[in-house]
Amino acid sequence: MDSEQRLETTAERLGIRPEQAPRNIAIIMDGNGRWAQQRSLLRAEGHCEGAKTAQRVAQACSRSGIKSLTLYSFSMENWKRPKDEVDALMGLYEEYLISMRPMFLREDVRLLHLGRMDELPEPVQRELTKTIEQTRIHEGMTLALALNYSGRGELIDATKRIAERCVSGELSVDQIDEFCLSQHLYTASMPDPDLVIRTADESRISNFLLWQISYSEFYVTKTLWPEFDEQELDNAILAYAARDRRFGAIDTPL
Ligand code: IPE
Ligand code: IPE
Ligand code: MG
Repeated sequence: MDSEQRLETTAERLGIRPEQAPRNIAIIMDGNGRWAQQRSLLRAEGHCEGAKTAQRVAQACSRSGIKSLTLYSFSMENWKRPKDEVDALMGLYEEYLISMRPMFLREDVRLLHLGRMDELPEPVQRELTKTIEQTRIHEGMTLALALNYSGRGELIDATKRIAERCVSGELSVDQIDEFCLSQHLYTASMPDPDLVIRTADESRISNFLLWQISYSEFYVTKTLWPEFDEQELDNAILAYAARDRRFGAIDTPL
């Protein structure tokens, strides 16, 4: 079954039309620390549960026919956290990049990385690169891991590359338009998200995909990320289906 057929099945199960379902979803996975705190556990244990949730949700999205899933896993600002928490997170990325490989192969998922790769610890870079290489030709869902990502940093990196190409004469200033800028972002090969989900009841963007979300629908849930499940995903899809996306135009009168 291809992703469009999977999406049709999902739409039918949820009682909506296939065109009402989001194709591209991005998630700000928040609340691991609070989940751990509520249970008197270490924050690292919250991240460990959060990593399991990410694996489950990625599989659920792939099986639901989602074309791309972007997971905000670590922001450039998250380096400000205590060293032991950052170390625990980096260990988890390495571990999960390895343990998710069979799922990527089974579900035909393609992995992409969004962010500055060269600032990550060597083992994380190695496992990321290996999985990206192994899944390059996969045609199912694209899973984009925003890891050491910053929306402003991404725009700076894109601006630098465009400026370099202008200086070398490869590109003229007149050629810089929305398409050109999009093509220089980490997300160059990806469609913009239709739906952005944020868990743990925070109504902010926290430097995520600043360019790409200009017309995305936003869905906030009180649920902490370790407790996010397939039912929550269905709720978000249903909320999206009820939205009226106008892109600055007005509804066509009947
Ligand atoms: C999200 O959970 C994971 C990362 C930012 C890496 P948090 O660790 O931010 O959880 P809270 O917000 O403290 O509950
Ligand atoms: C956003 O969560 C980053 C990720 C989910 C990776 P944060 O917990 O870092 O965001 P703030 O600090 O509450 O804005
Ligand atoms: Mg947080």
